[in-house]
Amino acid sequence: MVKRKVILDCDPGHDDAIAIILAASKISNLKIEAITTVAGNVEVEKNTLNALKVCDIIGLENVPVAQGAERPLVKEREIAEEIHGETGLDGPVLPENPTKKAIDKHGVDVIIEKILSSDNDITLVPTGPLTNIALAMIKEPKIIPKIKEIVLMGGGTFGNWTPAAEFNIYVDAEAAKVVFESGVPISMFGLDVTHQAIATDDIVKELSEIDNPIADFVIELLKFFSETYKEVFGFAGPPIHDACTVAYLIDPSIFQMNHVRVDIETKGEFTYGMTVVDTLETTGKEPNVHFAYQLDSDKFWDLMTRGLKSYS
Ligand code: BDR
Ligand code: CA
Repeated sequence: MVKRKVILDCDPGHDDAIAIILAASKISNLKIEAITTVAGNVEVEKNTLNALKVCDIIGLENVPVAQGAERPLVKEREIAEEIHGETGLDGPVLPENPTKKAIDKHGVDVIIEKILSSDNDITLVPTGPLTNIALAMIKEPKIIPKIKEIVLMGGGTFGNWTPAAEFNIYVDAEAAKVVFESGVPISMFGLDVTHQAIATDDIVKELSEIDNPIADFVIELLKFFSETYKEVFGFAGPPIHDACTVAYLIDPSIFQMNHVRVDIETKGEFTYGMTVVDTLETTGKEPNVHFAYQLDSDKFWDLMTRGLKSYS
């Protein structure tokens, strides 16, 4: 199998962790070139520690982990402790100090170096705020035409952090604007589709039957994530937002996509961080995003199940 090269840019985060686990599973067609971390769900240092712990757990030894931006481009940092807990990955009992260490290079520089030295074949997979990706584009614009694609989790036609804005985009809308206006092909997995990937109690029960250490770890993650989503949003379970990006890269047939124009609101009094999706083509602007709007739930959970089983 020819593997597709990806850089996972993330803020783990329960669903980021599950995205990494799926990407590194034996059924995956992805070659993880690097994992870069960004301030998002919690402070970047905690997100880095979590990424390293996840790598330890799944035995991902040869993939460099590099810490990235500690705050958004313009506004104050904002975190989501009420969703992911104080550590950013509350739930499973994890060793405090991971064996794996982050490399001594800034995440933004890792993205730049990897893309510059590539054959234009690296896909970026951001599942946190877009700060690192925007900074990389600003610091070294030569990378822009060399990025194969950006497959991201963020945005939607409604919000979860404000009525209009989804968390990842809201945290750094200025960065999102840079990325969405860059001209790089974007596939966007926003709330419209990620809210169709809900790990209900029945699904968690089915996954519990897999019974290997990685599946058990995922179950612990899902139990905590489930409690916060039920409490904060009144959902039947947590949406596994970030894993939709990886699921798409492994099997695009799980999703239905529209090619549309998406602009990022950075000035609105009530709508800062909104992804303005031009479904009815009212702007006359060229489409810049492949927008996922429908998920085949059976296929999605089948893929997840096979991914977790592959660790047995
Ligand atoms: C996004 O925000 C974070 O809490 C999740 O990890 C996901 O990337 C969903 O809005
Ligand atoms: Ca995330």
